[in-house]
Amino acid sequence: MEWNVLNMQMLHGGDYNPDQWLDRPDILEKDIELMKQAHINAASVGIFAWSALEPEEGRYEFDWLKSVIDRLYSNGIYTVLATPSGARPVWMALSHPEVLRVGPDLVRNQMGGRHNHCYTSPYYRQKVWEMDRRLSEQFGRHPGVILWHISNEFGGECYCPLCQQAFREWLQAKYGTIEELNSQWWTAFWSHTYSSFDQIEPPLEKGEQSVHALVLDWKRFVTDRTVDFCAFEKAAIRAGGSELPVTTNLMGFYNGLNYFKFRDVLDIASWDNYPFWHTNPQDESEVAITAAATHDLMRCIKQAPFLLMESVPGVTNWHPVCRMKKPGMHELSSLQAVAHGSNSVQYFQWRKSRGSSEKFHGAVVGHDGTANTRIFREVTTVGTRLEQLQTVCGTNVQAETAIIYDWENRWALDQMQGLLNGEGLDVKKRAGDPKHYSQTVLDHYEAFWRMGISADIVDMSCDFSRYKLVIAPMLYMQREDIVRKLRTLVEKGGTLVGTYWSGLVNENDLCFESFAPYGMQDVFGLYSEEIDALYPNQRNAMVLSATGKTYELRDLCDVVHVSTAQVLATYSEDYYAGCPALTLNRCGQGHAYYLCARADAAFYRDFYGKLADELHLERALESAVLPHNVSASLRKSDKETIAIVQNFNSHPASVCLSSPVTDIESGEYTTYITLPPYGIRFLRKSK
Ligand code: GLA
Ligand code: ZN
Repeated sequence: MEWNVLNMQMLHGGDYNPDQWLDRPDILEKDIELMKQAHINAASVGIFAWSALEPEEGRYEFDWLKSVIDRLYSNGIYTVLATPSGARPVWMALSHPEVLRVGPDLVRNQMGGRHNHCYTSPYYRQKVWEMDRRLSEQFGRHPGVILWHISNEFGGECYCPLCQQAFREWLQAKYGTIEELNSQWWTAFWSHTYSSFDQIEPPLEKGEQSVHALVLDWKRFVTDRTVDFCAFEKAAIRAGGSELPVTTNLMGFYNGLNYFKFRDVLDIASWDNYPFWHTNPQDESEVAITAAATHDLMRCIKQAPFLLMESVPGVTNWHPVCRMKKPGMHELSSLQAVAHGSNSVQYFQWRKSRGSSEKFHGAVVGHDGTANTRIFREVTTVGTRLEQLQTVCGTNVQAETAIIYDWENRWALDQMQGLLNGEGLDVKKRAGDPKHYSQTVLDHYEAFWRMGISADIVDMSCDFSRYKLVIAPMLYMQREDIVRKLRTLVEKGGTLVGTYWSGLVNENDLCFESFAPYGMQDVFGLYSEEIDALYPNQRNAMVLSATGKTYELRDLCDVVHVSTAQVLATYSEDYYAGCPALTLNRCGQGHAYYLCARADAAFYRDFYGKLADELHLERALESAVLPHNVSASLRKSDKETIAIVQNFNSHPASVCLSSPVTDIESGEYTTYITLPPYGIRFLRKSK
């Protein structure tokens, strides 16, 4: 397997669409010249090229692709070869409308857009198989091809009769009998009992939304279908003889798919990052933290270095306001991905198209077609820097802390009616993050980002035994053996931080017949009797018993009774003033903290700062106080430890270290690190 390139070389490149310029050999020549100038070493080719590869049914035209790959390779540029299944050609949609998706309103889409195909359609699958197998046969052993890019940003759902039938079969396989399904789904509620699997419909727009287990199972089915489609494409590639690794470009916290289920099918994880820089130019931290956390989440899918498959040079043309990245931000944003475990910086897109909806989306080369732009120069700088950072490829982030973010838990929380209902009770209008689950995960994460301590973001399927500290915010759903795993972690000496609204429902969203947190009351040394929800403008506060220091509380306030837990803080307001707001329980060799309400950033900073010292969590830069909005991360191997310091301020920053480090790029050996505005430096630590 040709894995070496990916393990040893930082990729710098991006989406390249020669299929849009086949009548312009001058442009294709110019592309190579400009790519070399920009220090590009990888091009992702063929992503939406089906109509160029098979202009009419059964007539395959691969010659143009061969000359593109040959030309790239002879100029030292690798190809990341895509399967074109993300968009189907016009002839196919017209001759076989079954390939087009059906919406939750049961209306079939017309030909148009992309990501508009049914994952079940036998005809679509057969055509994809044929295409992928042929691409693999022809290019799978080409020395220039290093990686398969399966499809593009898998997402969305199809409610066609074929998908509905597949859903019913999936349910039958899961539950066996309709009686078992009725019981697990609690269908006697509002008279929704089914007498056969044939009666079941997915959660249609005008149909069933109130049976929560049905909605959850539909989402799980959609993930399974999509993973199955991805695996099907991989099998077609293998059938064509290529053993090259495969990836697909994911979308971070995208809510439609449980990405952890892609772990086994993908050889490498990759994702597309479009942060909203300069939403608040005075303080970029919110955007920086979200980007950092998303990189960490994507890295944890494979627990290995990932690829930044897309990012934008210039502007993202679908943002509500298309802000330019200020000078320096492109470099910082690109290398921030590397700091969190990426072995590449790749772009959407190499060259701006002349027409259609992405003609004003940022690209390395604009409509002027020259290298004479700020963006081109900044991209070139990233390319030259990556060439000096090859050694980073052999390292990875090795976190001692894990924060649980679980897609199924999120789905269950989002649809749950109660506590905080966002836009009201209409399920369809309750988009976004009504219970503030993702935001809460980020609240906890922020403290580690500010301390320069690496954190993994994992789901319930994770093996937690390697971590010193596990944080489980709002673990509403408890499934698989999560209770046993967390209990074992604590009993064996680990530290667990749990919060309000944990341990309420099982994997089918059925409430446990117990006080919360189910199965964990002895671990936390308490139980929750009731929980209060606050309007957005309302606050409570907690007072630390030891120091009297107070922190603001919001959203949800759990009223708990302690058994063995020690009360570390109490509420200051309302009918539960004086009741526990933060507790600590010893259990076996370890400790379990329970936070009763959503706190503000100052609390998380102080709380995790103290915990980090007590647990001796490794900081990227020991004993250094990081300036505001300067973060640091670590990538390590057996051979070396690299600290990456990132300044998200528009002004310079500096950090004083207790022991000297060597700047990998400049060779400078120093204890005094200066960073320009939006600067980022890679520092080798002495052993
Ligand atoms: C996604 C897609 C790309 C492109 C970009 C634009 O990431 O994968 O094809 O449309 O968005 O930002
Ligand atoms: Zn379908």
